[in-house]
Amino acid sequence: MKSIHGVLLLLITAKGIFESVQAQDQSEFISLACGLVPKSTTYTEKTTNITYQSDANYIDGGLVGRISDEYTTLLQKQTWTLRSFPKGKRNCYNFNLTAKSQYLIRGTFVYGNYDELKQIPEFDLHIGPNKWTSIKLDGIGNGTIHEMIHVLTQDRLQVCLVKTGETTPFISSLELRPLNNNTYLTQNGSLIAVSRAFFSPNPVFIRYDEDLHDRTWIRHLDNESVPISTDLLVDTGNPYDVPQAVAKTASVPRNASQPLTFDWTLDNTSQSYVYMHFAEIQTLKDGEIREFNITYNGGKNMYSYFRPEKLEIKTVYNIIALSSPDGNFSFSFTMTGNSTLPPLINGLEIYKVLHLLELETDQDEVFAMVNIKTTYDLSKKVSWQGDPCAPQSYRWEGLNCSYPDSEPPRIISLNLAENKLTGSITPEISKLTQLIELDLSKNDLSGEIPAFFADMKLLKLINLSGNQGLNTTIPDSLQQRINAKSLTVIVSQTVTLKDNSKKVPMVAIIASVVGVFALLVILAIFIVLRRKHGKSANAPRPTSVPISMVHNEARSFNPAIITKERRITYPEVLKMTNNFERVLGKGGFGTVYHGNLDDAQVAAKMLSHSSAQGYKEFKAEVELLLRVHHRHLVGLVGYCDDGDNLALIYEYMEDGDLRENMLGKRGGHVLTWGKRMQIAVEAAQGLEYLHNGCRPPMVHRDVKTTNILLSEQSGAKLADFGLSRSFPIDGECHVSTVVAGTPGYLDPEYYRTNWLSEKSDVYSFGVVLLEIVTNQPVIDKTRERPHISEWVGFMLTKGDIKSIVDPKLMGEYDTNGAWKIVELALGCVNPSSNRRPTMAHVVMELNECVALENARRQGSEDMYTRGSVEFSHTSASEFSPGAR
Ligand SMILES: *[C@@H]1O[C@H](CO)[C@@H](O)[C@H](O)[C@H]1NC(C)=O
Ligand SMILES: *[C@@H]1O[C@H](CO)[C@@H](O)[C@H](O)[C@H]1NC(C)=O
Ligand SMILES: *[C@@H]1O[C@H](CO)[C@@H](O)[C@H](O)[C@H]1NC(C)=O
Ligand SMILES: *[C@@H]1O[C@H](CO)[C@@H](O)[C@H](O)[C@H]1NC(C)=O
Ligand SMILES: *[C@@H]1O[C@H](CO)[C@@H](O)[C@H](O)[C@H]1NC(C)=O
Ligand SMILES: *[C@@H]1O[C@H](CO)[C@@H](O)[C@H](O)[C@H]1NC(C)=O
Ligand SMILES: *[C@@H]1O[C@H](CO)[C@@H](O)[C@H](O)[C@H]1NC(C)=O
Ligand SMILES: *[C@@H]1O[C@H](CO)[C@@H](O)[C@H](O)[C@H]1NC(C)=O
Ligand SMILES: *[C@@H]1O[C@H](CO)[C@@H](O)[C@H](O)[C@H]1NC(C)=O
Ligand SMILES: *[C@@H]1O[C@H](CO)[C@@H](O)[C@H](O)[C@H]1NC(C)=O
Repeated sequence: MKSIHGVLLLLITAKGIFESVQAQDQSEFISLACGLVPKSTTYTEKTTNITYQSDANYIDGGLVGRISDEYTTLLQKQTWTLRSFPKGKRNCYNFNLTAKSQYLIRGTFVYGNYDELKQIPEFDLHIGPNKWTSIKLDGIGNGTIHEMIHVLTQDRLQVCLVKTGETTPFISSLELRPLNNNTYLTQNGSLIAVSRAFFSPNPVFIRYDEDLHDRTWIRHLDNESVPISTDLLVDTGNPYDVPQAVAKTASVPRNASQPLTFDWTLDNTSQSYVYMHFAEIQTLKDGEIREFNITYNGGKNMYSYFRPEKLEIKTVYNIIALSSPDGNFSFSFTMTGNSTLPPLINGLEIYKVLHLLELETDQDEVFAMVNIKTTYDLSKKVSWQGDPCAPQSYRWEGLNCSYPDSEPPRIISLNLAENKLTGSITPEISKLTQLIELDLSKNDLSGEIPAFFADMKLLKLINLSGNQGLNTTIPDSLQQRINAKSLTVIVSQTVTLKDNSKKVPMVAIIASVVGVFALLVILAIFIVLRRKHGKSANAPRPTSVPISMVHNEARSFNPAIITKERRITYPEVLKMTNNFERVLGKGGFGTVYHGNLDDAQVAAKMLSHSSAQGYKEFKAEVELLLRVHHRHLVGLVGYCDDGDNLALIYEYMEDGDLRENMLGKRGGHVLTWGKRMQIAVEAAQGLEYLHNGCRPPMVHRDVKTTNILLSEQSGAKLADFGLSRSFPIDGECHVSTVVAGTPGYLDPEYYRTNWLSEKSDVYSFGVVLLEIVTNQPVIDKTRERPHISEWVGFMLTKGDIKSIVDPKLMGEYDTNGAWKIVELALGCVNPSSNRRPTMAHVVMELNECVALENARRQGSEDMYTRGSVEFSHTSASEFSPGAR
């Protein structure tokens, strides 16, 4: 196959001849036919059954237009009308939606000589404050569709048209479709659709209602491949909801011994995500096998030995963005040696990443500004469109903003002088909490001066002069701030009401000035103390470092410096490990060797070539890992990325992993109950930190006893976190319905959702707790119940806690503590993730178990030292197990 083209082409009225699934609900769709008048009009487009409404309620300005009749015949009706924007640099559509929900957003543009200038416009399309794309049309009657997948950062969404030259921006239709939240996940940024293809001669185009999410799929045919199809129903139940019409057809190479290939080109800085949908739609005869390798960009491994499932869609995609130095991407599907049939593909989606570098203004301030705009009927202000502060070049006229690093911009001054404002001063202004200057002069405001100004702590200047109808009586609270010289209020052009200074005697002024200084000094000291206090208070409580602090710390490091310091060359690795002399272990991603670095022992994990991925992703991952520091996480001390040799250098944990220790492989002694509780709580703290202390939060994905490492001095630490993110089990991709993680530890919900969350880690940790208590294998086929969680449940219904606790402990444990921990563990392995506790809760409960154990030990020690029968009696009754 040859190139896949960049832009989705506009539909020619084509609707599948395929039988359509029953009409799907479109109640959550927003479908705007721009420029439709009157504004209450709605209609249903016959070829798609989609109901369109006018855009008038979602936008302030613009002129309605209609394309020339000669172009309407082939086009769907929503493109017949349009809205154009001769005024203003930026004009925006506003939607009230829910933050964090994911939408497919589609803009359609057909010029159709609506202005009779025969001049094709060029302009930009923005999503919030970020540029989405430039709109360039191929011809007068040709249209283009632009689609993106975007997760909302606020409870509102803005899609803006931005003038870039002389021509007038316009839009024909704008459509929003909710998508499943657990699909199309990216590490960073939104996804711009490059292509979405299916492989069948008919129809040429698929969208709603065959596609429940109304994605547009475009037919792709070429002479190097042939389409095949089935009449049978294909199971499309995975979260991507591939339409039947796509799933029932596929492409295979024309020459069966040739690979199937696709290639496309993006600009060389772009990253890409690819979603490939496969289902076996031919009936295989005995001995027939269809198996192929998926590789990209010249043989890089994506998935080996892939076998499409019979009549069931499996989706293969990369979980890390792909990049290519020259912008060229190519995918190949090659038959393996055992395969008797050529490779096939049913659907292919290609996206490029849009990094959202401009942050939106603080959400509360945006809402306040929108309300101020409505209250004073300021829709005539042409620049008051889109985000108030961002990007800086389109900031609303009359506003000044502060742009703190990696935090939303804030409004610091508002100038509405001479805007014919009428009515009273709106309390919405009080929501601009960072405001320093406010100018409402020369308007027709009436009513009183509100007292809320006194509570706006940063406010320094208010100009209310030139409002004839305003009652200029100053409220008492405001007068106090004026007297304290922390605020100046101007109420008339001539009189400056600074502080009645002329009337106040000299002494008083000095007193008040000193008062202010004193206040400032006290404030400064207070802040410093608080900071110090905050830090020292946090040091001994590593489990709950406030997020903002972690954030600041991360920011204060320069990643480039870290990278430089911790980067280790390959010869250094050779020297460090004494030419890989001593193997410590073999993991899923490579072999681990013992080493010495600056007098400290280290463990060097060499990443095997088959699991190695793009250099950029590796580096991004390493930088993330270098930033995660916690007492109970195995620290990454450096890395090597010398040519083909990728290695991660960790701190060395001399006592090995928990599994070995439980099995008694490291010296004969049995881990005591107290020690086990300690290990459990420490590992839990490490995991809790990944979930709640890290920005962004991390899911470990592979919590198990072999990933809990021990050291006499530093206690238990969790290993291998974050790695599975960039080194997934099957090379650089992820296949829905194919198992990831470690059997026995894997969240059962994963099979349904294909999605690992914090709660999946909780599940795995519950399994670890059961192992700690019972010292039984996680899966043992010879047991009544093979899986440990079922076995424990089963044993407890028959016997009591003694029947499951590790017999090697010889009864040396606290029964209450054992009950508590087993109950906690069973909560963690609840099949329903909603019912599982959070790691924060697990840590809390485990701390109580440790306390119980300490009390027990304390009790018995006291008993020995005091020899008091009485004491042992109270101790026993206090901690004896309750009736179960
Ligand atoms: C539109 O809906 C009607 C009734 O639900 C149905 O009969 C018709 O086939 C649908 N048309 C398309 C193009 O899906
Ligand atoms: C969005 O919400 C605002 C305020 O809550 C309201 O004034 C506006 O009409 C809403 N817009 C739409 C399109 O529903
Ligand atoms: C996606 O998440 C958002 C916010 O958490 C929620 O409001 C929305 O209902 C979710 N949508 C779906 C389809 O799950
Ligand atoms: C669409 O653009 C192509 C060139 O890219 C041109 O050949 C074709 O005539 C145009 N179609 C219309 C309807 O303008
Ligand atoms: C997202 O991408 C931007 C731009 O490449 C980068 O500056 C930022 O650090 C990334 N954020 C994360 C969480 O990876
Ligand atoms: C592919 O098909 C087109 C027309 O359908 C033809 O012109 C071209 O020569 C073919 N290419 C090859 C390599 O067969
Ligand atoms: C198919 O490909 C093989 C291997 O490249 C080649 O030898 C053979 O001639 C091709 N067959 C046809 C019909 O083109
Ligand atoms: C398929 O991939 C495996 C593992 O990466 C490799 O060993 C094998 O040679 C590949 N087969 C083909 C035909 O490329
Ligand atoms: C072919 O299949 C056999 C049996 O499943 C397996 O042992 C062998 O490694 C496979 N060979 C290749 C080249 O995949
Ligand atoms: C102005 O407001 C004050 C306080 O509310 C009130 O006492 C006074 O009568 C008002 N003056 C006029 C002229 O309305």
